Amino acid sequence: MQNFIAYIPTQLHFGKGVIKGLPEAALPFGKKVLLMYGKGSVLKNGSYDNTIEQLKIAGMEIFEYDGIKSNPVVEDVDAAAELGIGKKVDMIVAVGGGSVIDSAKITAICIHDRAKAWDVVKRKVVPTGAIPLITVLTLAATGTEMNSVAVLQNHKTDEKLGYGHLSMYPKHSFLDPGYTLSVPANYTAFGVVDLVAHCLEAWFGAGDASLSDRFVIAIIKEAMEFGPQLMDNLSDYDLRARIMWAATNALNGLTSYGRVSGDWAVHGLGHVLSYLYDTPHGASLSIVYPAWLRIMKERIPERISQLGVQLFNENDPEKTIFKLETFFSALGSPVRLSDIGKNDKDIEEIIKIMNYNRVSGMNMRLNEDDRRRIALQMI
Ligand code: NZQ
Ligand code: ZN
Repeated sequence: MQNFIAYIPTQLHFGKGVIKGLPEAALPFGKKVLLMYGKGSVLKNGSYDNTIEQLKIAGMEIFEYDGIKSNPVVEDVDAAAELGIGKKVDMIVAVGGGSVIDSAKITAICIHDRAKAWDVVKRKVVPTGAIPLITVLTLAATGTEMNSVAVLQNHKTDEKLGYGHLSMYPKHSFLDPGYTLSVPANYTAFGVVDLVAHCLEAWFGAGDASLSDRFVIAIIKEAMEFGPQLMDNLSDYDLRARIMWAATNALNGLTSYGRVSGDWAVHGLGHVLSYLYDTPHGASLSIVYPAWLRIMKERIPERISQLGVQLFNENDPEKTIFKLETFFSALGSPVRLSDIGKNDKDIEEIIKIMNYNRVSGMNMRLNEDDRRRIALQMI
């Protein structure tokens, strides 16, 4: 087992009506709030109204930045930071899914350090801190509510990149599964795929960490049992709650402690699809994971087989991959490029951006030939 530091400083408030704890959580940080949200879903599911109500109870002055798009872009972060700096806000409250919360995380650094977002993401500046961030999560998927990572894209540089800094841990995250009842079927499925993919990135990482492996299997089993049930009962609060909690735990460190690293090549490859075609994050992963596994079964058949035994009582790597792919597909997530309207004519463009970004795994290194072979498997 590797040495590690376990550090999750986010206070997580989970359950029905927890938003009532917002005033007490926010007041220690000041009185001026930058409220960030996306394209309007929060206005329909009650999360926006409830957040405003609680901030008003706390006597907060509120400045809003909305319109953050899914697969968020650097321009919004710079604009939000400019607003926050101009209004001298004390904290950010982000209401939404991963795209809004990730944008808010980088904005929090940009306001604190008067920095430009892409300089932060590209590590041209080293943050000295971030203003406090509170999140109100409305979509179960990324785990961003309890980690220190953000993903941002830049169309000027052809990149979608992840960035991590300890200052970006939310101080508080409010998770009311009721807010996720309005998530449509497709994004519900993509969220389940994403949480499973986070577990797989840990599983295929470097190093030996048996307890973390068991967490991985437990979380995937939770998703495999309750994900399909949720797809049949989208308005079931209890199922929403189980998936929401599973998603948080899939990427808050629990599945990684003791490892050298996760792998994360599949996420990097998926980001290329999101960058090029605005493919939703989870949808990109259900296309790339089976393709990556089919190439990796030559290199790490035993590890795939161990996964198969734990999840499906199946030790054949190809059958394991097929079962995983069938699980994604049955949820309603795409598993081939044709499912998102792309075909072999698009392959060269995809490979070009994969190579330009030199996408690779931290454990399973990828060269140009590997990327081509993985891309061809996606057809
Ligand atoms: O923009 P609005 O109107 O809010 O609509 C959103 C968006 O269209 C909608 N939505 C959110 N909550 C809803 C809802 N619709 C109805 N009811 C609700 N309660 O769902 C759409 C997708 O939202 P988005 O935030 O983009 O989805 P997600 O949470 O999957 O976040 C995806 C982003 O997170 C990054 C991804 O790369 C992608 O950019 N990731 C962040 C990670 C992290 N910070 O740890 C790790 C992940 O691996 C991932 O890379
Ligand atoms: Zn992900």
